[in-house]
Amino acid sequence: MSNIKKIAVLTSGGDAPGMNSAIRAVVFSAFNAGIEVVGILRGYEGLIDWETKNLDLEDVRNINNQGGTVLYTSRSERFLQPAYRKQAADNLRENHIDAVVAIGGDGTLRGAIAFREEGINMICIPGTIDRDVSCTEYTLGFDTAANTAMEAIDRIRDSSVSHGRCSVVEVMGRKRGYIALWAGMATSADAIVLPEKWDGNFDSITDAIKRRHADGRNSYLVVVAEGVIDAPELAEMIRDKTGIESRVSVLGYIQRGGQPTAKDRMYGSLMGAYAIEILLHGGKNRIVAIKNDILIDFDITEAITMENNTLDSFQYELSLTLSE
Ligand code: F6P
Repeated sequence: MSNIKKIAVLTSGGDAPGMNSAIRAVVFSAFNAGIEVVGILRGYEGLIDWETKNLDLEDVRNINNQGGTVLYTSRSERFLQPAYRKQAADNLRENHIDAVVAIGGDGTLRGAIAFREEGINMICIPGTIDRDVSCTEYTLGFDTAANTAMEAIDRIRDSSVSHGRCSVVEVMGRKRGYIALWAGMATSADAIVLPEKWDGNFDSITDAIKRRHADGRNSYLVVVAEGVIDAPELAEMIRDKTGIESRVSVLGYIQRGGQPTAKDRMYGSLMGAYAIEILLHGGKNRIVAIKNDILIDFDITEAITMENNTLDSFQYELSLTLSE
C-alpha cells in the first residue's frame, strides 16, 4: 500500500474530449483516498514554470460535458531537454508531490519515460483523438472525434448529392487511420485512404469512381487521413481522370473539440479512477490501458516498445467490401 499524500495532474499534447472526465475522476478518487491534488496548467510547460491550480471537488464537479481540457495543454519542446526536466522535477520535489498523473498521447508518454531519470513517479492515461498509443485499444477522444467527423461528412454528402459532385474529405489522425476508417465506413465512403494501407495507387480511387459513374451514380465520397496524400491534388486528379467535378473539405480542429460522447466521459472517468487505484496499490511509472473492454496497466517503458497497433484487419477488409 502507498503513503501518497499529494499528487499532480496534467494534460499534454493535443486536447481530446474526455480529458476533463479523467481529471474529474482523478480529483474525486484522490479525495476519497485522502490525497490532495494539484492541477498543472499547460502540460509539461506548466511543470517547468510551476503554473498550478489547487483542485478540489467544486472545481471539477461539472466539467464532464466540456470539450478541451480545463487544465489547458501544450506540446512542450523544452521538456525534451534534461535541464528543463530537472527544473520540473525540482518544482515537484519542493512542493512535496508524490506522483504525477499525465493525460495525453504518444508524446506525453515519451515525456513521462524521459522523466523517469529524475525519479518522479508518472502514471499516464492515454488521451488523444488519434487512437495511436500502442498498448491500448482505446484512447480518450477517439469516439467523439469519429462521431464529429461522421456528422460533418453526412452534411457534406447532402451538398455533394445535390450537385452531383465528388467530395474529398480530409480527417485527422496523423499516423493512424482510425478516424478515417470509422468516419468513412459510417458515411458509406467510396474510398478511404489510410496511412497504414496507402500504396500510392491513385488509379484504384479514380477507377472505382469511374465504375460507379458507369453504374449510374451521380455523387461520390472519398475520405482521406491527413498526411497521406494531398487532398486538393487528389481532387484535381479525380476531375482530370473522371471528368467529375470534385471539391475538398478539410475538417481540421472541429474534430478535437465539442462535447464528449458518453463513451469518452465514461472511459475518462474509469481511467482517471484507475490511475488512482494504481497509486494506492503502490504502482510506479504505469500507463492505463484498455484491452477487451477491461482496464489494465503497463510499465510506461514497456508500453512504448510495444508494436504499433496496426489497423484491425477485419475492420479494414470490411471497409473494402462495403465500398465496393
Ligand atoms: O491530437 C492529435 C492531432 O489531432 C493529430 O491528428 C494532428 O496531426 C495533430 O494533433 C495536430 O495538432 P496541433 O496542430 O495542435 O499540433
